[in-house]
Amino acid sequence: MTKKYTIAMLEGDGIGPEIMREAVKVLNVIQTRSGVKFDLKYAPFGGKAYFDTGLAFPDETKKVCDEADAILKGPIGLSHTESEKIPVEQRPERGALLPLRRRYNTYANFRPVYLPAELAHFSPLKPHVVEGGIDFMMIRELVGGLYFGAKERGVTPEGLRYVKETLEYDEAQIRRILVVAFDVARKRKKVLHNVHKSNVLMSSVLWNEIVEEVAADYPDVAVKHMIVDAAATALCLNPRQFDVMVMENMFGDILSDLGGGLLGSLGLMPSACIGAGKSYYEPSHGSAPDIAGKGIANPYSMIGSVAMMLEMSFGLEAESRAVWDAMRRVFGHGFTTADLRAPGDNQRVISTSEFGDHVTAALTA
Ligand code: IPM
Ligand code: MN
Repeated sequence: MTKKYTIAMLEGDGIGPEIMREAVKVLNVIQTRSGVKFDLKYAPFGGKAYFDTGLAFPDETKKVCDEADAILKGPIGLSHTESEKIPVEQRPERGALLPLRRRYNTYANFRPVYLPAELAHFSPLKPHVVEGGIDFMMIRELVGGLYFGAKERGVTPEGLRYVKETLEYDEAQIRRILVVAFDVARKRKKVLHNVHKSNVLMSSVLWNEIVEEVAADYPDVAVKHMIVDAAATALCLNPRQFDVMVMENMFGDILSDLGGGLLGSLGLMPSACIGAGKSYYEPSHGSAPDIAGKGIANPYSMIGSVAMMLEMSFGLEAESRAVWDAMRRVFGHGFTTADLRAPGDNQRVISTSEFGDHVTAALTA
């Protein structure tokens, strides 16, 4: 019997729809290659959804996501001016993205910082630093910490405006993300970098206690501790020392963008947001409203998110690898899109949809 998977398709804003179209081309080839069936259910989500329906995460979209086997999500967000037209609570980040993460409790965010050796010229780092390529996995806790803590805004008795945001984690929240990270480290090079700030933050003190407890179950995995600010420097100076990194939500938000910088662009970073019951997949970058509709955005991060979904939600590992390989080959042949900064000769600039066509051709070949 043919396996059938329902995928909620949230195109999002800006370049979202155009890079999603390329992801669909890839899904179609995978259907033909593997014999599985994908049932794609499109639903509005983000800034455009707000203007069309009055809600950034409409009920109809929640239903589509609830019923799907996995969610494929494009980038969301508007230009500053457009964003200002929406009440703060309905802006796409607060009104759609964080509620999506909360709804499905997608606590484990995988952000691969991956640049094979032959693409090392995409990195702004000196050739001798990135020679051999970059390949590590950042694992970010995605539903706790400051981003989800209680917030308060008010005026002090002295008449000063103040804010209060809370950073909260309980041990179960910390343990589950660490278990994910140790499992990944065990499957890779058996070295885990634990990123923290225990010299200042109590949350990191508890975090590190749990690291020790979980580590006892993984005697084969070496744990290296690194303070978050030092980790930022180390990432720039020698990214090749890392294989798997794990950290809390805000540290991961910031350092994963640094990871994108190491690659030369966040456009080269897909991601997986894994929950206990449901997972969703999204590019790590924003919606790039400035280049939307021009056909110059690279669909790599969207197609890479498809590759991660094939592997992590559907267990189609060989198909996933084939998608990565296909993209690698397209770049390897010197093709690129105008948005990606890749100094070097022989770059043949093609459009978003041509890039997608090349990937599907490489997959079919
Ligand atoms: C990300 C984004 C989001 C985050 C924003 C859009 C809320 O920057 O996925 O990294 O901060 O988590
Ligand atoms: Mn971010």
